[in-house]
Amino acid sequence: MSISRRQFLKAAGGSAAGVSISGTVVSPAGAAAPPADVGRTTLPFKPKVIARAGQLRPNTPVTFTYPDASSPCAVIKTGAPVPGGVGPDRDIVAYSTLCTHMGCPVAYDSTARTFRCPCHFSIFDPEKSGQMVSGQATENLPRIQLEYSAADGSVKAIGVDGLIYGRQANLL
Ligand code: FES
Repeated sequence: MSISRRQFLKAAGGSAAGVSISGTVVSPAGAAAPPADVGRTTLPFKPKVIARAGQLRPNTPVTFTYPDASSPCAVIKTGAPVPGGVGPDRDIVAYSTLCTHMGCPVAYDSTARTFRCPCHFSIFDPEKSGQMVSGQATENLPRIQLEYSAADGSVKAIGVDGLIYGRQANLL
């Protein structure tokens, strides 16, 4: 028995389409569902009171840890309003104090009003959103998001902008 060219092509096309459909629609039995938080952009940072606005002195940082005990940070009252500053004078900001180059702890220089890294001399400006001013680092200091309560003068850490050095995620 012979078949026409038309019949052959029709049969081959239908077979190929079947393979294609079975390849894309049917998934292996028991395949794991994607995690529920894939694509999530807001992480569940736990708020933490880190200072009282009335107790902060201008140009004098106070250290704390956030979002966990292994992440050193500093809050500083700059003494003049700065972008993103909180508090009654809009001058309170906070940053991770791990250098973004290789993770050395930065120290505050009250004369230059900058954070300086002792390892390879990177400099960061707390009055300009933690901007990297010079040195080996290529990223700004991660900024701690703050919330001020006029009711009790508390300053709370509520999140982190930027990736803390050495981490794949800010929340471990
Ligand atoms: S670790 Fe800070 S500049 Fe290298």
